[in-house]
Amino acid sequence: MDARSRILFVDDEPQILRSLRRGLRRYDRWDLRFADGAEQALEELRSGGVDVLISDVTMPGTDGVELLTVAREVCPDAMRILMSGTTEGRLIMRAVPVAHRFLDKPVGIRDLARIIEDALTLRELLADPNIRTVVGKVSALPSLPRTFADLTRVLDDPNHNLDQVVRVVERDPGVSARVLHIVNSAFFGTARRIASVEDAVRHIGTGLLRDLVLVAGVLRLVEDGDLPANVSMRVEVAHAIEVASGARAIADEPHKLAAFTAGLLHDAGMLLFAAELPDLWAPMVDRARAEGVPLHEVERQQLGVTHAELGGYLFGIWGLPGDIVTAVVDHHTALERSHDGVDASLAVHLADRLSGLGREEPPPSEDMLAAFGVADRVAAWRREVDAAGEP
Ligand SMILES: [Fe+2]
Ligand SMILES: [Fe+2]
Repeated sequence: MDARSRILFVDDEPQILRSLRRGLRRYDRWDLRFADGAEQALEELRSGGVDVLISDVTMPGTDGVELLTVAREVCPDAMRILMSGTTEGRLIMRAVPVAHRFLDKPVGIRDLARIIEDALTLRELLADPNIRTVVGKVSALPSLPRTFADLTRVLDDPNHNLDQVVRVVERDPGVSARVLHIVNSAFFGTARRIASVEDAVRHIGTGLLRDLVLVAGVLRLVEDGDLPANVSMRVEVAHAIEVASGARAIADEPHKLAAFTAGLLHDAGMLLFAAELPDLWAPMVDRARAEGVPLHEVERQQLGVTHAELGGYLFGIWGLPGDIVTAVVDHHTALERSHDGVDASLAVHLADRLSGLGREEPPPSEDMLAAFGVADRVAAWRREVDAAGEP
């Protein structure tokens, strides 16, 4: 039997299937299948073995959302992705429970390949029995932070205005305070003090604000008192900001925002799980320190999974973008994979190792930074941070 991952594309327009087939020809590590509608797709799904299903939304007869709903029953392990020419709110609400991800048409072939790769990573995480064991010990997994979900809804409405954005964020004082804390930290690189949420929106724009609200919401799920005594929230937040700022500086231009957000979130899985299961984490943190080994190595030995995978698992369930989930999952192991330029994964990995507050892998050598073509970026980032002073 073919051991390659099987990817099934569904679209009623033969022209689109043809160009996908042509564009993806060189990705022969995957077993690519094409269906011209729901009927043919269901035949494939019923025969089993589909790993990723990517379907158009608007099709005659059974549409994409209905197809994904049936796919969830007949082939529950497949990752389900919807491709749509419109991001109409009502459609998305219908699809939220069944789709792992939405794509806006048209999607370039390289982006599509990366999205498939991300989906396969997430699929592996969702099926990992060790992750299931640790997750099973947590009585209720935290859900996607409310303010982030509300803000996403506001921003998805094309007629939204600044006032609505500000109001949603300010309704949550804890999140607002953390957003301002991050924006005003020396690593963020804002020259003057940002005093209000409105000021922040004007300064950083709604896209970055949305990501910061997500991060603030995640961090707020953890109270200092919930953590084992040997983990400090203050140090973790400072580390997250440092890695985010470094990753943004290191990443290639199109990946800077994802690198920043993933940098902020990269160790958040550790905080969330350590807060839920402090008795499990406290001895692992102690052991890592006593033996001078990275925490993730101790986790791997004792749990069979690391905080990187647990964080990625949670963010995957929340439906965060695939490049962010992948960067979180990869943050210790990015060098084991090949990268298309300096993407978010690679940038977060290098920034994590460069962080003075980190306690994971040793810092990368100057030669390694030069080999990735980022030595100048790292030097410029260090100069900027030094000039801004300590956070
Ligand atoms: Fe880590
Ligand atoms: Fe880290």
